[in-house]
Amino acid sequence: MQGILGTLPDKEFTRMQLHTRILGRVPFGLVAGLLLAMCPWTTSLQAQSPSFLDGWKFAQGDHPEAIQPQFEDSDWETVSIPHDWSIAGPFDRENPSFSRGAWLPAGICFYRKTFDLPIDVSHKLVSIYFDGAYRNAEVWINGHYLGKRPMGYIAFEYDLTPYLRPDNEQVLTVKLDNSAQPGSRWYSGTGIYREAYLKFRDPIHIPTWGAYTRTESASTDKATLFCEVPVLNSTNADAEVEIRTAVISETGSTVAQTRQVIGVGANQSGKVSFNLDVKNPALWSLDHPHRYRMNHTLVVNGAIRHTESYWTGIREMTYDSDRGFSLNGEWMKLKGVCLHHAGGPLGAAVERATIERQILKLKAMGCNSIRTAHNPFSTEFFEVCDSMGILVMAESFDEWQVVKEPKTFRENGDGIRIPVDYYAELFDEWADRDLTDMILRDRNHPSIFMWSIGNEIEQMREESGIAITARLQNICHSLDNRPVTNGINGYGWGSFPNREAEGVLDVVGYNYAKDANFVEERKNYPNRKVIVTETTSAQTFRARGSYTLDTHFPDRLGLPYEENPDTKKFLDNRGDFQAGIDMWKAVKHRDHVMGHFIWTGWDYLGETIPYPWPARSSSFGVIDLAGFPKDGYYFYQSQWTPEPMVHIFPHWNWKGHEGKTVTVKGFTNAEEVEILVNGRTFGIRLNDPDSAQMLEWKVPYTPGNLTAVARVNGAEVARQEIYTAGKARTVEFTTSTKPLIAGGRDLRYVEVQIVDRNGYPVPDAMHDLTFTVAGAGSLAGVGNGNPQSTQSFVADHHQAFHGKALAIVRSGEESGTLTLTVSAKGLKRQTLTWEVAAPKTAER
Ligand code: GAL
Repeated sequence: MQGILGTLPDKEFTRMQLHTRILGRVPFGLVAGLLLAMCPWTTSLQAQSPSFLDGWKFAQGDHPEAIQPQFEDSDWETVSIPHDWSIAGPFDRENPSFSRGAWLPAGICFYRKTFDLPIDVSHKLVSIYFDGAYRNAEVWINGHYLGKRPMGYIAFEYDLTPYLRPDNEQVLTVKLDNSAQPGSRWYSGTGIYREAYLKFRDPIHIPTWGAYTRTESASTDKATLFCEVPVLNSTNADAEVEIRTAVISETGSTVAQTRQVIGVGANQSGKVSFNLDVKNPALWSLDHPHRYRMNHTLVVNGAIRHTESYWTGIREMTYDSDRGFSLNGEWMKLKGVCLHHAGGPLGAAVERATIERQILKLKAMGCNSIRTAHNPFSTEFFEVCDSMGILVMAESFDEWQVVKEPKTFRENGDGIRIPVDYYAELFDEWADRDLTDMILRDRNHPSIFMWSIGNEIEQMREESGIAITARLQNICHSLDNRPVTNGINGYGWGSFPNREAEGVLDVVGYNYAKDANFVEERKNYPNRKVIVTETTSAQTFRARGSYTLDTHFPDRLGLPYEENPDTKKFLDNRGDFQAGIDMWKAVKHRDHVMGHFIWTGWDYLGETIPYPWPARSSSFGVIDLAGFPKDGYYFYQSQWTPEPMVHIFPHWNWKGHEGKTVTVKGFTNAEEVEILVNGRTFGIRLNDPDSAQMLEWKVPYTPGNLTAVARVNGAEVARQEIYTAGKARTVEFTTSTKPLIAGGRDLRYVEVQIVDRNGYPVPDAMHDLTFTVAGAGSLAGVGNGNPQSTQSFVADHHQAFHGKALAIVRSGEESGTLTLTVSAKGLKRQTLTWEVAAPKTAER
């Protein structure tokens, strides 16, 4: 049997092929280092198709004839994936996705891709890999049916080898069916919204997700890694396979290596398991997320047949019923947020830059962990979390066998419950497989600290939940050593008819438990490991930037439906920021509670509680849908970051209210804050940095300058100045101007602030902004964070909301100069310029 080298034509000299050539000539350790240097961030070094994301044909609706290879699709739209067609809208109160699905369209759609194989595959296995497609994905290659994967959040792969056409033009067809609506409690998106690529492998190879590395023990002196490497021999001859494993540091040196040899019979599989010691490892931590590249190379008769490479990290995690959670021996609280998978204006088709921006903002708030509510996330998401140093609770399900009937609101304020057609129907047939695949795909990521097998699952209150909990948890245990939880909502804790299912869990996940519940539960179950999987955020329902004079909440918009008892109950319960503040205070002072995950870090589309149409996104986030922090964000920053900070609100533009009292509120981590208006003091408030509190002043309104000075030991450590803004004059940008990478996947998020002639933010500016992109890129989306806006995200204009708007700019295929111009009636236009640079290596 020929090795890879023998099959490669020179002109198709891709990155993978270059790697394999080098492997044949130079020492093993050096090779591994070179691999790392050449491939800074791709998931795997098995050969993948370089540009499988572009040139897809797309059509909404049912097109059964499109599975035939000869089907004429030239009049279909040409799209690139990741792609989410629901996000283009329009928002429409007649759409059956309802408020839960953000009133956006959903349904059946088709994708087709016609392609030539980039290499000679006569001695290869070829497969198609999807990291997720929403949902009920059915796939055909050259008219052959490959299968159906109902869950829209799970990765899947099909072998194409037997069905490839010798003439080398291949046609892949994907049908998605998201027509059962409402189909989710939150916005899902519809489309091939994550990466997809072809894989080319030798018949002797490591199967997808087979290679596994975990930390057995780790200190700064020494770590022991456990590795498992399965080998599949799909040839008709027995083979003796040498498995070379190397652990490579980020700087490219080999820190450990080993070789094993196993015999694998014809059409059989085998597996090796072994420990590897790493001396003086650079541990993966939140501040220094050092990673290591694992390389496994299969050699048969001296020829390299397969190379598998992935990032992992070395760290030790401890979970304790008295002390909570520790990372590398440091006991810490999990300061977490729940996130849904979609990325605001881009819908479900997010890019790496979207995730990086989310995590940057969350880390700046002091957040150290994310719960993936309530489904498997993308591979890219975990890669970013690994590389940026944030812990993840990876969650699988929102439903087991019982359908959920979430609440939604009519325009008169009545709350009604409508069942969602989500996962319950699929659970019996698919749950074990979906959970298995989630863990297999994600278990090498150092950022994952815990698995979650569900969220607010009805059956956790019943006897039927006991066996299912045990079964799902056993699946996790059989594949990995991290503990398992389940976000359980006790509806008052203690009210369950049967509480045995909770007792099965490694760690009990308490949704919305309060301090009194911690006390009671600990009394009854002193040995339980406890985490607050979900809790109220210190944020009101009020949209970012909208205030009343007294900054007093609950969040009335002054609309009649707010007095409807169903709606009022929600508004009253949420009340001020206090519910979230109290939750953190409770968690902070209970050593045994590992931490909490607020609902939510960012706003998300759908679940518009408690607002009816035209509300289209949630209001739970401490960051709005466009990525602008709300006031609650700064509460967490004051509690979770050591850098001195102070944040006060509201704005200082109260024309017509001169002399009236404004309630000024604020958060700080300093010892005291003084408020001054035009230099005159309105008092100092002491802040106990160890308690969680909100400061408050009553200040008569005089236009000018409102200043907060934060002090420690009497010395100023932070200050915030707010000015009464004049007439809106122009816009200012906040963004990164570093070059974009050509290829269509790099994004710049441009935050637009309307300012007056002095550059002061104008808090009530609501101009309709026009965004013009010219040169080497395009406009990917626009937004403003207003949960009640039904303006399209896919347009060249958008209204500012309380002075702010967002434009998302995408690099084009080619390098060149890219400009964004923002203009509006009455405003001086402004332009931003970037260079779009060619990628250094073929990255995909
Ligand atoms: C929780 C649920 C979340 C979200 C939230 C809204 O009970 O787990 O998914 O629905 O309520 O308040």
